[in-house]
Amino acid sequence: MSARPVIIDCDPGQDDAVALLLAFASPAEIEVLGVTTVAGNVPLEMTERNARRIRDLAGKGGLGVYAGCARPLERELVTAEHVHGKTGIDGARLPEPEGAPAPLHGVDFLIETLHAPEAAVTIAALGPLTNIAAALARSPEIKRGIGEIVLMGGAIGLGNVTPAAEFNIHVDPDAAQIVFTSGVKITMVGLDVTHKAIVTADRLGAIEAIGTPVSQAVSGMLAFAADRHRGRIGGMGSPLHDPCVIAYLLDPALFGGREAHVAIETESALTLGRTVVDWWGVTGKAPNATVIDGIDADGFFALLTERLARL
Ligand code: BDR
Ligand code: CA
Repeated sequence: MSARPVIIDCDPGQDDAVALLLAFASPAEIEVLGVTTVAGNVPLEMTERNARRIRDLAGKGGLGVYAGCARPLERELVTAEHVHGKTGIDGARLPEPEGAPAPLHGVDFLIETLHAPEAAVTIAALGPLTNIAAALARSPEIKRGIGEIVLMGGAIGLGNVTPAAEFNIHVDPDAAQIVFTSGVKITMVGLDVTHKAIVTADRLGAIEAIGTPVSQAVSGMLAFAADRHRGRIGGMGSPLHDPCVIAYLLDPALFGGREAHVAIETESALTLGRTVVDWWGVTGKAPNATVIDGIDADGFFALLTERLARL
Protein backbone atom coordinates (compact mmCIF):
# COMPACT_ATOMS: atom_id res chain seq x y z
CA MET A 1 0.00 0.00 0.00
CA SER A 2 1.28 3.47 -0.82
CA ALA A 3 1.67 6.16 1.82
CA ARG A 4 -1.37 8.33 2.55
CA PRO A 5 -0.84 12.00 1.55
CA VAL A 6 -1.21 14.22 4.62
CA ILE A 7 -1.02 17.92 5.43
CA ILE A 8 -0.27 18.63 9.09
CA ASP A 9 -1.79 21.87 10.39
CA CYS A 10 -0.35 22.67 13.81
CA ASP A 11 0.68 25.16 16.52
CA PRO A 12 3.83 23.66 18.09
CA GLY A 13 3.52 23.20 21.09
CA GLN A 14 5.49 20.29 22.63
CA ASP A 15 2.78 17.76 21.76
CA ASP A 16 2.47 19.11 18.21
CA ALA A 17 6.23 18.72 17.91
CA VAL A 18 6.08 15.07 18.97
CA ALA A 19 3.21 14.52 16.53
CA LEU A 20 5.31 15.95 13.69
CA LEU A 21 8.19 13.65 14.62
CA LEU A 22 5.88 10.61 14.74
CA ALA A 23 4.67 11.44 11.22
CA PHE A 24 8.20 12.11 9.91
CA ALA A 25 9.27 8.74 11.35
CA SER A 26 6.55 6.92 9.41
CA PRO A 27 7.11 7.60 5.69
CA ALA A 28 5.79 4.17 4.62
CA GLU A 29 2.33 5.11 5.91
CA ILE A 30 2.32 8.93 5.87
CA GLU A 31 3.56 11.15 3.08
CA VAL A 32 3.72 14.65 4.60
CA LEU A 33 2.94 17.04 1.73
CA GLY A 34 3.56 20.11 3.84
CA VAL A 35 3.11 21.62 7.28
CA THR A 36 0.90 24.65 7.88
CA THR A 37 1.14 26.56 11.11
CA VAL A 38 -1.42 28.59 13.00
CA ALA A 39 -1.46 30.84 16.05
CA GLY A 40 -2.54 28.92 19.13
CA ASN A 41 -0.32 27.65 21.92
CA VAL A 42 2.02 30.57 21.15
CA PRO A 43 1.88 33.32 18.50
CA LEU A 44 2.27 32.43 14.81
CA GLU A 45 5.84 33.65 14.45
CA MET A 46 6.86 31.09 17.04
CA THR A 47 4.71 28.16 15.87
CA GLU A 48 6.16 28.56 12.35
CA ARG A 49 9.71 28.72 13.67
CA ASN A 50 9.14 25.72 15.95
CA ALA A 51 7.75 23.63 13.10
CA ARG A 52 10.89 24.34 11.06
CA ARG A 53 13.14 23.51 14.02
CA ILE A 54 11.39 20.15 14.41
CA ARG A 55 11.53 19.55 10.65
CA ASP A 56 15.29 20.17 10.72
CA LEU A 57 15.73 17.92 13.76
CA ALA A 58 14.07 15.10 11.80
CA GLY A 59 16.34 15.73 8.80
CA LYS A 60 13.42 16.75 6.57
CA GLY A 61 15.01 20.00 5.40
CA GLY A 62 13.29 20.02 2.00
CA LEU A 63 9.75 19.97 3.41
CA GLY A 64 7.66 23.14 3.14
CA VAL A 65 6.43 24.81 6.34
CA TYR A 66 3.86 27.51 5.60
CA ALA A 67 2.78 30.13 8.13
CA GLY A 68 -0.98 30.60 8.13
CA CYS A 69 -3.32 32.75 10.19
CA ALA A 70 -1.95 34.88 13.00
CA ARG A 71 -5.27 35.19 14.81
CA PRO A 72 -8.67 33.51 15.00
CA LEU A 73 -11.28 34.36 12.36
CA GLU A 74 -13.32 36.74 14.50
CA ARG A 75 -11.75 36.96 17.94
CA GLU A 76 -8.66 37.94 19.87
CA LEU A 77 -6.00 35.24 20.13
CA VAL A 78 -5.79 33.27 23.39
CA THR A 79 -2.40 31.55 23.90
CA ALA A 80 -1.15 28.97 26.41
CA GLU A 81 2.38 29.90 27.49
CA HIS A 82 1.41 28.83 31.03
CA VAL A 83 1.32 25.25 29.70
CA HIS A 84 3.91 25.29 26.89
CA GLY A 85 6.44 27.88 28.10
CA LYS A 86 7.53 31.04 26.35
CA THR A 87 8.75 29.38 23.13
CA GLY A 88 5.98 26.74 22.93
CA ILE A 89 8.55 23.94 22.83
CA ASP A 90 10.39 24.70 26.07
CA GLY A 91 12.36 21.65 27.16
CA ALA A 92 13.84 20.98 23.71
CA ARG A 93 17.20 22.58 23.09
CA LEU A 94 17.17 23.12 19.35
CA PRO A 95 19.09 25.46 17.06
CA GLU A 96 17.42 28.14 14.97
CA PRO A 97 15.85 26.72 11.80
CA GLU A 98 17.67 26.60 8.49
CA GLY A 99 16.77 29.10 5.80
CA ALA A 100 13.93 31.58 5.67
CA PRO A 101 10.17 31.10 6.16
CA ALA A 102 8.34 29.94 3.00
CA PRO A 103 6.84 32.89 1.09
CA LEU A 104 3.48 31.14 0.49
CA HIS A 105 0.72 31.73 3.08
CA GLY A 106 -0.53 28.56 4.79
CA VAL A 107 -4.10 29.08 3.59
CA ASP A 108 -2.87 29.48 0.00
CA PHE A 109 -0.84 26.28 0.36
CA LEU A 110 -3.94 24.44 1.55
CA ILE A 111 -6.04 25.76 -1.33
CA GLU A 112 -3.37 25.07 -3.98
CA THR A 113 -2.70 21.56 -2.68
CA LEU A 114 -6.33 20.57 -2.15
CA HIS A 115 -7.65 22.08 -5.35
CA ALA A 116 -7.10 19.02 -7.56
CA PRO A 117 -4.80 16.53 -5.83
CA GLU A 118 -3.89 13.22 -7.45
CA ALA A 119 -5.34 11.42 -4.44
CA ALA A 120 -7.60 12.78 -1.69
CA VAL A 121 -5.53 14.37 1.06
CA THR A 122 -5.92 13.79 4.80
CA ILE A 123 -5.57 16.83 7.03
CA ALA A 124 -4.17 16.20 10.51
CA ALA A 125 -5.37 19.25 12.45
CA LEU A 126 -3.52 19.78 15.71
CA GLY A 127 -4.33 23.38 16.61
CA PRO A 128 -7.15 25.91 16.31
CA LEU A 129 -8.98 25.29 13.03
CA THR A 130 -8.45 28.81 11.64
CA ASN A 131 -6.36 27.92 8.56
CA ILE A 132 -8.62 25.08 7.50
CA ALA A 133 -11.80 27.11 7.96
CA ALA A 134 -10.31 30.06 6.09
CA ALA A 135 -9.39 27.79 3.17
CA LEU A 136 -12.85 26.15 3.13
CA ALA A 137 -14.59 29.54 3.29
CA ARG A 138 -12.50 31.02 0.48
CA SER A 139 -12.49 27.97 -1.84
CA PRO A 140 -15.30 25.54 -0.94
CA GLU A 141 -14.40 23.36 -3.93
CA ILE A 142 -11.32 22.10 -2.04
CA LYS A 143 -13.71 19.84 -0.11
CA ARG A 144 -13.41 17.46 -3.03
CA GLY A 145 -9.68 17.22 -2.47
CA ILE A 146 -9.97 16.40 1.24
CA GLY A 147 -10.34 12.73 2.11
CA GLU A 148 -10.71 13.32 5.81
CA ILE A 149 -9.88 15.76 8.58
CA VAL A 150 -8.60 14.05 11.70
CA LEU A 151 -8.43 16.67 14.41
CA MET A 152 -7.32 16.97 17.98
CA GLY A 153 -9.96 19.07 19.66
CA GLY A 154 -13.07 19.15 21.75
CA ALA A 155 -14.40 16.71 24.29
CA ILE A 156 -17.52 14.72 25.04
CA GLY A 157 -16.82 15.45 28.70
CA LEU A 158 -14.99 18.19 30.54
CA GLY A 159 -12.85 20.95 29.03
CA ASN A 160 -9.29 21.93 29.85
CA VAL A 161 -8.93 25.66 29.10
CA THR A 162 -12.37 26.30 30.64
CA PRO A 163 -14.58 23.86 32.56
CA ALA A 164 -16.63 23.41 29.38
CA ALA A 165 -14.20 23.73 26.45
CA GLU A 166 -11.02 22.24 25.04
CA PHE A 167 -8.28 24.72 24.01
CA ASN A 168 -8.16 24.26 20.20
CA ILE A 169 -11.92 24.67 19.75
CA HIS A 170 -12.19 27.41 22.37
CA VAL A 171 -9.53 29.54 20.67
CA ASP A 172 -11.42 29.65 17.37
CA PRO A 173 -14.97 28.34 17.77
CA ASP A 174 -16.10 30.12 14.59
CA ALA A 175 -13.52 28.18 12.60
CA ALA A 176 -14.59 24.93 14.27
CA GLN A 177 -18.18 25.73 13.35
CA ILE A 178 -17.20 26.09 9.66
CA VAL A 179 -15.26 22.83 9.71
CA PHE A 180 -17.89 20.76 11.53
CA THR A 181 -20.67 21.99 9.22
CA SER A 182 -18.60 21.62 6.03
CA GLY A 183 -19.75 18.11 5.15
CA VAL A 184 -16.12 16.91 5.02
CA LYS A 185 -15.45 13.58 6.76
CA ILE A 186 -14.24 14.40 10.28
CA THR A 187 -12.67 12.30 12.98
CA MET A 188 -12.54 14.04 16.35
CA VAL A 189 -9.85 12.98 18.79
CA GLY A 190 -10.69 14.95 21.91
CA LEU A 191 -9.79 15.09 25.57
CA ASP A 192 -11.78 11.92 26.27
CA VAL A 193 -8.98 10.13 24.40
CA THR A 194 -5.92 12.21 25.16
CA HIS A 195 -6.54 12.30 28.91
CA LYS A 196 -6.01 8.54 28.78
CA ALA A 197 -2.63 8.98 27.01
CA ILE A 198 -0.60 10.00 30.05
CA VAL A 199 3.19 10.35 29.99
CA THR A 200 4.11 8.19 32.98
CA ALA A 201 7.68 7.97 34.31
CA ASP A 202 8.09 4.54 32.67
CA ARG A 203 6.90 5.77 29.28
CA LEU A 204 9.15 8.81 29.48
CA GLY A 205 12.06 6.57 30.51
CA ALA A 206 11.55 4.35 27.45
CA ILE A 207 11.76 7.36 25.12
CA GLU A 208 14.80 8.72 26.97
CA ALA A 209 16.52 5.34 26.65
CA ILE A 210 16.54 5.58 22.83
CA GLY A 211 19.50 7.88 23.33
CA THR A 212 19.39 9.93 20.11
CA PRO A 213 19.17 13.72 19.58
CA VAL A 214 15.47 13.23 18.70
CA SER A 215 14.77 11.25 21.87
CA GLN A 216 16.66 13.84 23.89
CA ALA A 217 14.53 16.66 22.47
CA VAL A 218 11.30 14.69 22.95
CA SER A 219 12.07 13.63 26.50
CA GLY A 220 13.11 17.20 27.34
CA MET A 221 9.79 18.52 26.06
CA LEU A 222 7.77 15.79 27.76
CA ALA A 223 9.57 16.35 31.06
CA PHE A 224 8.82 20.09 30.77
CA ALA A 225 5.14 19.33 30.08
CA ALA A 226 5.01 16.86 32.99
CA ASP A 227 6.39 19.57 35.25
CA ARG A 228 3.80 22.10 34.05
CA HIS A 229 1.00 19.58 34.66
CA ARG A 230 2.01 18.79 38.23
CA GLY A 231 -0.98 19.61 40.41
CA ARG A 232 -3.19 20.42 37.40
CA ILE A 233 -6.20 18.51 36.00
CA GLY A 234 -6.66 16.57 39.23
CA GLY A 235 -3.05 15.40 39.26
CA MET A 236 -3.71 12.89 36.46
CA GLY A 237 -0.30 13.61 34.88
CA SER A 238 0.64 15.06 31.52
CA PRO A 239 -1.56 14.06 28.57
CA LEU A 240 0.05 13.65 25.14
CA HIS A 241 -2.68 15.13 22.95
CA ASP A 242 -1.63 15.71 19.32
CA PRO A 243 0.40 12.53 18.62
CA CYS A 244 -2.87 10.60 19.14
CA VAL A 245 -4.04 11.99 15.77
CA ILE A 246 -0.97 10.68 13.95
CA ALA A 247 -1.21 7.34 15.79
CA TYR A 248 -4.83 7.10 14.64
CA LEU A 249 -3.64 7.47 11.03
CA LEU A 250 -0.98 4.81 11.58
CA ASP A 251 -3.07 2.29 13.49
CA PRO A 252 -6.78 3.07 13.92
CA ALA A 253 -7.21 -0.28 15.70
CA LEU A 254 -5.64 1.37 18.77
CA PHE A 255 -8.74 3.59 19.04
CA GLY A 256 -12.48 3.22 19.43
CA GLY A 257 -15.43 5.54 18.97
CA ARG A 258 -18.67 6.07 17.14
CA GLU A 259 -20.36 8.42 14.73
CA ALA A 260 -22.26 11.30 16.31
CA HIS A 261 -23.48 14.80 15.63
CA VAL A 262 -21.18 17.48 17.05
CA ALA A 263 -22.34 21.09 17.45
CA ILE A 264 -20.04 23.96 18.42
CA GLU A 265 -20.98 26.62 20.96
CA THR A 266 -20.06 30.01 19.47
CA GLU A 267 -22.10 32.42 21.61
CA SER A 268 -22.19 31.67 25.31
CA ALA A 269 -19.29 33.27 27.19
CA LEU A 270 -19.58 30.52 29.78
CA THR A 271 -19.25 27.56 27.40
CA LEU A 272 -17.58 29.14 24.35
CA GLY A 273 -16.01 26.45 22.16
CA ARG A 274 -17.79 23.54 23.80
CA THR A 275 -18.28 20.58 21.46
CA VAL A 276 -21.81 19.37 22.13
CA VAL A 277 -21.60 15.69 21.20
CA ASP A 278 -24.92 13.94 20.66
CA TRP A 279 -23.58 10.59 21.86
CA TRP A 280 -27.03 9.07 22.40
CA GLY A 281 -28.57 10.46 19.20
CA VAL A 282 -31.21 12.43 21.11
CA THR A 283 -31.37 15.29 18.60
CA GLY A 284 -32.07 13.08 15.61
CA LYS A 285 -29.42 15.04 13.69
CA ALA A 286 -27.30 13.06 11.24
CA PRO A 287 -23.75 12.37 12.50
CA ASN A 288 -21.13 14.79 11.16
CA ALA A 289 -18.09 13.20 12.83
CA THR A 290 -16.58 10.02 14.11
CA VAL A 291 -15.97 10.81 17.76
CA ILE A 292 -13.14 8.82 19.30
CA ASP A 293 -13.38 8.07 23.01
CA GLY A 294 -11.13 5.07 23.60
CA ILE A 295 -7.42 4.34 23.22
CA ASP A 296 -5.06 1.46 23.94
CA ALA A 297 -2.60 3.75 25.71
CA ASP A 298 0.15 1.15 26.13
CA GLY A 299 -0.10 0.31 22.44
CA PHE A 300 0.04 4.00 21.56
CA PHE A 301 3.19 4.65 23.59
CA ALA A 302 4.82 1.47 22.26
CA LEU A 303 4.16 2.67 18.69
CA LEU A 304 5.44 6.18 19.46
CA THR A 305 8.63 4.90 21.08
CA GLU A 306 9.35 2.43 18.30
CA ARG A 307 8.86 5.10 15.63
CA LEU A 308 10.90 7.80 17.38
CA ALA A 309 13.79 5.34 17.51
CA ARG A 310 13.80 5.31 13.68
CA LEU A 311 14.75 9.00 13.43
C1 BDR B 1 -4.56 20.98 22.59
O1 BDR B 1 -4.22 22.34 22.91
C2 BDR B 1 -2.82 22.51 22.90
O2 BDR B 1 -2.41 22.93 24.15
C3 BDR B 1 -2.20 21.19 22.52
O3 BDR B 1 -1.16 21.41 21.59
C4 BDR B 1 -3.33 20.40 21.94
O4 BDR B 1 -3.41 20.57 20.54
C5 BDR B 1 -5.03 20.27 23.83
O5 BDR B 1 -6.16 20.91 24.36
CA1 CA C 1 -1.65 21.64 19.26
